[in-house]
Amino acid sequence: MRGSGPLGGPAALWPLLAVHVATALEPVSMGVAAVGAASALTGLFSYTKLYCRFAECCVEERPLDAAALKRDLEEKLFGQHLATEVILKALTGFRNNKHTKKPLTLSLHGWAGTGKNFVSQIVAENLHPQGLKSKFVHLFVSTLHFPHEEKMKMYQDQLQKWIRGNVSACSSSVFIFDEMDKLHPGIIDAIKPFLDYYEQIDGISYRRAIFIFLSNAGGDLITKTALDFWRTGRKREEIQLKDLEPVLSVGVFNNKHSGLWHSVLIDRNLVDYFIPFLPLEYRHVKMCVRAEMRARGAAVNEDIVTKVTDEMTFFPKDEKIYSDKGCKTVQSRLDFY
Ligand SMILES: *[C@@H]1O[C@H](CO)[C@@H](O)[C@H](O)[C@H]1NC(C)=O
Repeated sequence: MRGSGPLGGPAALWPLLAVHVATALEPVSMGVAAVGAASALTGLFSYTKLYCRFAECCVEERPLDAAALKRDLEEKLFGQHLATEVILKALTGFRNNKHTKKPLTLSLHGWAGTGKNFVSQIVAENLHPQGLKSKFVHLFVSTLHFPHEEKMKMYQDQLQKWIRGNVSACSSSVFIFDEMDKLHPGIIDAIKPFLDYYEQIDGISYRRAIFIFLSNAGGDLITKTALDFWRTGRKREEIQLKDLEPVLSVGVFNNKHSGLWHSVLIDRNLVDYFIPFLPLEYRHVKMCVRAEMRARGAAVNEDIVTKVTDEMTFFPKDEKIYSDKGCKTVQSRLDFY
């Protein structure tokens, strides 16, 4: 039969074997080389399955459980209808597309405490069950990992080596960069080639990887839009992406502090989705307090919920609609009670 290849029937099973078991000895790839018959494959599957129960495996073809991701976002993230919608769409689209042309690049924007870090944690957990602890998920914080300008060359080399090494070990690796607005442009230059539309770079394909950028950039413009809606009596939930997306890219673009990284990434269309995080209102802070209480295994006490929320500061001065710090200090405040 034409096109069936030298392996005949079992070739159809090959894609199922795209399970990378990261170990020093690589028993699976050794096994694959030796296996020829379908019956042996069955044994290999159960071996892999057993192995992956005890060690973390990068299961590249595992479909994303969209319903679970949706549930997580809806139950744990408050007041962010846009972020919820876009993230869900971006991730399911990316994971269901077997022919992606570039890695998925998400840029999360908004004030501190609005849920950006939290969302990246949820995303990480839905891709790799151990979440931020997974060896396939990498978190970089600008001020922590790349603090010294004079060491830029070293940071660049190291980061490129890490991205290369990790993606070749697990193509669906996730890289999260926090505090993008404080990131040295040199780091962007180092990451940029990996985000682009290359089929391969030195034999490695980056098209299944996911990059997530977090920044406060654009937070003021997002707040302004939300406030405009509020002042004209329109519902927050009516804010659509199109109300924010132009503001976001142009506004952030012009921002002196973050313009550099943005200009590079936007110019080349390397960012797939801009994801705005709206400022949180009084009722959302209350939701955070309740969720935190539940997470601590305590019964929800509405008196305390109100007390904790009332301690937060709200802006603008006159209307006092949005929490200054979002839900950021809820945990420590709750400790008092
Ligand atoms: C993967 O990234 C981590 C940093 O998150 C680094 O310590 C490790 O050396 C990298 N692995 C490879 C194989 O490059």
